[in-house]
Amino acid sequence: MPLFPDLRMRRLRKSHAIRSLVRESQLDVGDLIFPLFIVEGKGIKQEISAMPGIFHFSIDRLAAEVDELSRLRIPAVLLFGVVNNKDEIGSPALDPEGVVQQAVRAIKKAAPQMIVVTDICLCEYTSHGHCGVVVNGDVDNDSTLPLLARMALSHASSGADIVAPSDMMDGRVRTIREALDNNSFNHIPILSYAAKYASAFYGPFREAAGSTPQFGDRRSYQMDPPNVREAIREIEEDINEGADIVMVKPALAYLDVISKARESFNCPLAAYNVSGEYAMVKAAASRGWIDEKRVILEILGSIKRAGADIIISYHAREAAAWLAEQA
Ligand code: PBG
Repeated sequence: MPLFPDLRMRRLRKSHAIRSLVRESQLDVGDLIFPLFIVEGKGIKQEISAMPGIFHFSIDRLAAEVDELSRLRIPAVLLFGVVNNKDEIGSPALDPEGVVQQAVRAIKKAAPQMIVVTDICLCEYTSHGHCGVVVNGDVDNDSTLPLLARMALSHASSGADIVAPSDMMDGRVRTIREALDNNSFNHIPILSYAAKYASAFYGPFREAAGSTPQFGDRRSYQMDPPNVREAIREIEEDINEGADIVMVKPALAYLDVISKARESFNCPLAAYNVSGEYAMVKAAASRGWIDEKRVILEILGSIKRAGADIIISYHAREAAAWLAEQA
């Protein structure tokens, strides 16, 4: 290796053109998934207070939104349902006329090429806000599995392209895979939230989805933040059970986990740039403390550089517009 003065790293940073020539990773609009929150009712497009620029949509307002997302070349959306009447076992999640089921049909009708991914988890539908069935004060793994499988089937029957379990029960990928395969949905991929941490960065989402646990927390099923070897075991478990795409969540405080997962596995890797990460940027930007556009593109770029193929982000819409300007 040559040393200075033979080596001058700055030679390759001289101009935009040369920087672009030697650039190692590139953010592409085709890698982005935009989350959408669907509510009951009509004529609703209401901003979520802790997530400026992100809205609750009723079904009738979705077509205009997905038209705009298609125009921006965003390839995929991730749907979350927000419902009023919840029960102990989250049965509104299974309703063929539920908000997500209806939303899937509405989006596929308005924009057939849009990839519709649905979140599979009970927490938005249970009265206690936990991601599974509660038995003796504990979130019971095995009795939750058939409900998740029925939810995934219901979404697939409505036309969902990909199902994305985010509950962190053991064995759910296998149970969902079997249910899909036994009901002629063997072509539907599973995007598993494989390494999902018990994170404080989900705060704004829980307000948006009305899914804050009414007692306790999610630490008995979501991962402990200091662990990384455990994340590799979680991902391995899900791949072995049949996951087609695996995810690390959140993204920013877990870039090392993304990078390690990238080195360890060859299947497509997603990362979720979550609600709290979004809210921090928006709060600082609204005070003029950071250059919003540059910070967002740098954040999304860092997730790509760490090794994610797919990025789920509330910034997807604005980032897509900026990427189009640059192209
Ligand atoms: C449901 C779910 C959560 C998120 C995605 N799916 C919340 C949670 O686990 O509490 C968080 C997304 C975000 O913060 O943007 N289990």
